[in-house]
Amino acid sequence: MDRINNPYAPGAGLQPPTLTGRDQLLEDAAIDMQRALKRRPTQGMMLLGLRGVGKTVLLNRLHEKAMELGFQTVKIEAPESGRLAQLLLPGLRQIIYHLDLRQKAKRLVREAASVLRNFASAFELNFGGFEFGISPSPGRADTGNLEQDLPMLLVAVVQAAKESDTAIAFFLDEVQYLSRDELAAIVVSCHEIAQQGLPFYFVGAGLPQIARLAGNAKSYAERLFTYPEIGPLPAGAAKNALIQPAAVEGVAFTKGAVEEIISQTKCYPYFLQEWGSQVWNAAPETPITLDDVVNTTPGVIEHLDANFFRVRFDRLTPLEQKYLRAMAELGSGPYKTGDIAAALGVEASSVAVVRQNLIDKGMVWSQRHGETAFTVPMFDQFMLRQMPELIPHVPNRRRCKPES
Ligand SMILES: Nc1ncnc2c1ncn2[C@@H]1O[C@H](COP(=O)(O)OP(=O)(O)O)[C@@H](O)[C@H]1O
Ligand SMILES: [Mg+2]
Repeated sequence: MDRINNPYAPGAGLQPPTLTGRDQLLEDAAIDMQRALKRRPTQGMMLLGLRGVGKTVLLNRLHEKAMELGFQTVKIEAPESGRLAQLLLPGLRQIIYHLDLRQKAKRLVREAASVLRNFASAFELNFGGFEFGISPSPGRADTGNLEQDLPMLLVAVVQAAKESDTAIAFFLDEVQYLSRDELAAIVVSCHEIAQQGLPFYFVGAGLPQIARLAGNAKSYAERLFTYPEIGPLPAGAAKNALIQPAAVEGVAFTKGAVEEIISQTKCYPYFLQEWGSQVWNAAPETPITLDDVVNTTPGVIEHLDANFFRVRFDRLTPLEQKYLRAMAELGSGPYKTGDIAAALGVEASSVAVVRQNLIDKGMVWSQRHGETAFTVPMFDQFMLRQMPELIPHVPNRRRCKPES
């Protein structure tokens, strides 16, 4: 089919041509946002899911919605090894400028600016300052302790927003990469703002372990947010995700073609886009047939291996790779952590550090104590292709010098 008009959108955070299966969530969030604008109690939202299920796409949609409803917004992606404080500055500074332009709450806006300045200097951050004069605000957000300072800063900004007849919405992607202190500071901030009944809405997104990480950071995090699980699409929605974009271009799929793509992708959104896109390019004419799909599938898998899976695999040490290979040996998971060690031929304790590193790198997660699972759908099959053989692990033992 004509590649120029290929409607599919495979790629991280790319808006799909038809966003299917998420209507309820979008509707619930829109209601919550409107409640927040009216300063009615609302829970924030932490979108939980594996790689490629569409969390970033949802976060971006909700961000657009918030702007449409008149929120002032901050949207950031937690970097793997970065500083949240530094990342927050430009967005907050911009909001303060914007609030200043509204000229409704000059005093509170200047105060927020002054608190931001304290915060920046307490954390030794690059901060361009403000073109307007700020009077000092001693004792506010200047301790250098993020859990104390961030709530004070955000409360000051949201208060200024409230008095300026607007509200703040905060969007934070890849929450699992925050340090424990940073996550605690975010949770405490949301809690503080909620208690003061200020107009604020929070959306976070990340790998499924963030529900537990937030709960560990502060136990009340369980009640502060809802934790919608974003998973594979329901079969009907997955079919629509394929069929509708093509139909707009006057192209159809046979029933067999659709069934085959559903079976290959297991309804995971990213895989649907990838199969849709490549099958489109390969198919000579409408309708796209089962044969077209079957003939294209090996190429799609090769492409996924060389890109989507591979970039993750290459970031790992040989031992981490071996650990994942042992997981794959046991099926698609989740796995008992002890069984993985047994497949490697070692005690669980001798690979505990490897497992933790894999969690920190966002490759595996643990729903329950003693359990481990992949964070990337179908990674088990990739591991079997990548490392056909499982070689048992021989831990380095400290060798005694032979007696002389
Ligand atoms: N509801 C959906 N329907 C169809 N495709 C989707 C949907 N949500 C996401 N996608 C597609 O899935 C891919 C991954 O989305 P992304 O938001 O980056 O996932 P995540 O952030 O969970 O890793 C993108 O190509 C996107 O277009
Ligand atoms: Mg994402």
